[in-house]
Amino acid sequence: MLETLEGELARGRAAFEAAATLQELEDAQVSVLGRKAPFSQLQRGLGSLDESQRREVGARVNAVRTELTASLDTRRATLQEAVEATLLQEDRIDMTLPGRRPRAGSLHPLTLVEREVIEVFTRLGFRVAEGPEIEDDWHNFQALNIPTDHPARTMKDSLFVAIPGHPELLLRTETSAVQIRTMQSQPPPVYVIAPGRVYRRETADATHLAVFHQVEGLVVDEGITFADLKGTLEAMAKELFGERRRVRLGPAYFPFVEPGAEVGVSCFKCDGVGCRVCGNGWIELLGAGMVHPQVLENCGYDPERYTGFAFGVGIERIALLRYAIPDIRMLVDGDVRFLEQFGTAS
Ligand code: PHE
Repeated sequence: MLETLEGELARGRAAFEAAATLQELEDAQVSVLGRKAPFSQLQRGLGSLDESQRREVGARVNAVRTELTASLDTRRATLQEAVEATLLQEDRIDMTLPGRRPRAGSLHPLTLVEREVIEVFTRLGFRVAEGPEIEDDWHNFQALNIPTDHPARTMKDSLFVAIPGHPELLLRTETSAVQIRTMQSQPPPVYVIAPGRVYRRETADATHLAVFHQVEGLVVDEGITFADLKGTLEAMAKELFGERRRVRLGPAYFPFVEPGAEVGVSCFKCDGVGCRVCGNGWIELLGAGMVHPQVLENCGYDPERYTGFAFGVGIERIALLRYAIPDIRMLVDGDVRFLEQFGTAS
């Protein structure tokens, strides 16, 4: 019996040591110390021994059980520690790392300029009007005093849209079509600005894109004069380019205004002296004029009673000047290194 005991002690230690997982250790425990294990059978056999043998073998049985249990506990502690270490490693979060801030985008320079222009004019009491980007010939041309055979049509390289059943649809060449839609939709007085996208058949270069943006302005009321136009444009120039700016108006032809004007703003860089930005001290910024009586009449307004002015300014042009952007194509390249220079969206 003593021999069996020593054998079981050695076998048990080896089995516990060999267990690579807690499950294996549990199996080893059953095989070494379980009810059917040789050790337990031997323990049950103690009763058949005489007293002195029973004392000797019994003492050894107790000692072996203590040793086996100790060996089992040690192994179990080791395996448990390994399990926990693995779990910790898998769940590892380094609380000392700085957090990952979500990247905030920035507003596109065209959006910034458009918002600013809208803000200037809403403060002056204008409201924002909108029109479709696909226009019909009447709104884009005829109502604006550009009849079918008018040579002014060749001033605009239009992009026509072929939709069956809709002759003469085109991508609007200027926001001026919104003048017509606004007057058709309401009686005077009118004080609106209409920002939006316009399209022309252009080859992109440093100063041209086929898709660009304008803000149209339209005022129609009793007693509106050229002085109101000039005062309004001057207010806009000062708001956008600084308090010291002046405007100058030179003659220009747009079929839907009479008289028509090309509007220059004194250079914000050199204050009108002449520099690399402006050349001669003035920056030609927009077209404008007094609404042609024919246009008022086309929209059902009485030209004897009402007069008005209109202007159209390019958003890209303002953005290029304002931010000293050397090439208009940078506005549509989508290069984040360029775009993120314009501040964070708020
Ligand atoms: N629509 C003209 C253009 O695109 C600008 C303009 C608007 C001129 C209103 C006069 C009046 O060039």
